[in-house]
Amino acid sequence: MKEIVETKNIGLRGVKVADTRISDVDGEKGNLIYRGLNICDLVSCSTFEEVSFLLLHDRLPTSEELKSFQEELVSERKVPEAVYGLMKMMPNTAHPMDVLEASIPILAAYEPQLHDESREANLKKAIRLIAKLPNIVAAWDRIRKGKEPTVPHPELTHAGNFLYMLSGSLPLSETARDFDICLILHAEHSFNASTFAGREVASTHAHLYASILAAIGALSGELHGGANSEVMKMLLEIGEVDRVKSWVSEKLRRGGKVMGMGHAVYHTEDPRATILRGICNRLADRTGDRKWFELTQAIEKATKEEFRRLKGKEIYPNVDFYSASVYHMMGIPKDLFTPVFAISRVSGWAAHIIEEKFAEAQPKPELYRPDADYIGNYCGPQACPYIPIEERSR
Ligand SMILES: CC(C)(COP(=O)(O)OP(=O)(O)OC[C@H]1O[C@@H](n2cnc3c(N)ncnc32)[C@H](O)[C@@H]1OP(=O)(O)O)[C@@H](O)C(=O)NCCC(=O)NCCS
Repeated sequence: MKEIVETKNIGLRGVKVADTRISDVDGEKGNLIYRGLNICDLVSCSTFEEVSFLLLHDRLPTSEELKSFQEELVSERKVPEAVYGLMKMMPNTAHPMDVLEASIPILAAYEPQLHDESREANLKKAIRLIAKLPNIVAAWDRIRKGKEPTVPHPELTHAGNFLYMLSGSLPLSETARDFDICLILHAEHSFNASTFAGREVASTHAHLYASILAAIGALSGELHGGANSEVMKMLLEIGEVDRVKSWVSEKLRRGGKVMGMGHAVYHTEDPRATILRGICNRLADRTGDRKWFELTQAIEKATKEEFRRLKGKEIYPNVDFYSASVYHMMGIPKDLFTPVFAISRVSGWAAHIIEEKFAEAQPKPELYRPDADYIGNYCGPQACPYIPIEERSR
C-alpha cells in the first residue's frame, strides 16, 4: 500500500515543494552548498560580490566579469531622493525593518525596467536591489539620529561601504573583511521562510520588487531573521557570565526559547555558526573586550547542558547566535541586525525569484496554490442560514 505522507499543520517541514539549483542544506552532516560550492571554501576564498554573481549566474565569474559586476554594484548604490524624503517624514521610532519594507515600493516606482519581465531585466533589477539595500539601512540609522546620510564610497567593497555609510568613518580592513564573510554566510539558505515567501509571490507573476518585499516581511519575524536582535537583547539582559546558568535553566523550565539556538533543518551544528564563532573570538581580541564572546559561549554551553537534561536531546547554535555579538562588536545597533541579514539575503532571494519566474529548475512555471481542509462551521451542503443583524444574539 502507498504510504500516506501527512503534510498538514507541520509548517511544511520535510515537504518538498520544488527543485532548486541554487543551494543545498545537509541538515544531518551540517553542510551548506551554494551552486555546488561549499560555504567553507567560499568564506576562505571569495567575496560577497563574487558570491552574488555565483548565485545569480550559476557559475563563478571570470576576473573581467567580476570587475564589471563590482563596478555595476558601485554605480547602482545611489537611492532616489524620495527614499530619504520618506525617512525624514517617519517617526524616529520606526523599526528599521519597517523602513526597509516601506522603501522597496519607492525603489520600484523609480525602476526603469519595472515591467520588463525578460531574464536580463530581472538580473539588472536584482543588481540594483543588492546595491541599494545597504544604503537604505545605513541612511535610516543616520536620519533617525538627526544626521545626514553618508555618500557611498566608490573605492570600498560592498561590506566596507556599508560599515562606512553607517558610521561615516573608514572601517578597519580586517573588520570589513569579517563583515564580508558575514554577508557571504547569510546570502542563501534554500527554501527557508523568507525565500519561500519571495518565490510564492513571484509565482503569481508579481515583479521582483513585490517578491523581495514579501521576503523582507517574512524575514522580520523572531523565529527567522528577527532572532539575531533577540539574541542581543538576551545578551544584554543576562549581562554577566555568572548569571547565565540560572537564566537559561529558568527560561527552559518555563518552556521559553533561547534565541539563536535550534534549527528546523540542521540536526548538528550549523556550519555558519562554526565560522561566526571564530569571527566572534577574533573580534573579541581586536576590540580588546572579550565579554560578548564569553557570554555567548557560556549561553551556548548552558543551553546544550540544560536541553540535554530536560529533553534528552541535543541542540546547537544557528546562524543568528554568534552573529549578534559579532555585529555588536562591529558597532552595528541591535535593531539593524535583521536588516543586515536582509542586505545579504537579497542575493539569494533574487536568485530564487529568477529561478521561479523562468522555471530554471522545473518543467514550467507553476502558481503556488496549496489546499486546506475546512474545519469551520458547517450546517450541511446548503451552508448555514444568514441571520439578519437584528435577530442575532451572542
Ligand atoms: C528555529 C526553530 C523555530 C526550529 O524549530 P523546529 O524545527 O520547529 O524545532 P522543534 O520545535 O521541532 O524543536 C524541538 C523541540 O526543541 C524545542 N526547541 C527548539 N528550539 C529551541 C530553543 N531555541 N530554545 C528552547 N527550546 C527549543 C522546541 O520547543 C521543541 O520542544 P518540544 O519537543 O518539547 O515541543 C526553533 O529552534 C527556534 O524557535 N529557535 C529559536 C529562534 C531562532 O533562533 N530562530 C532562527 C532560526 S535560523
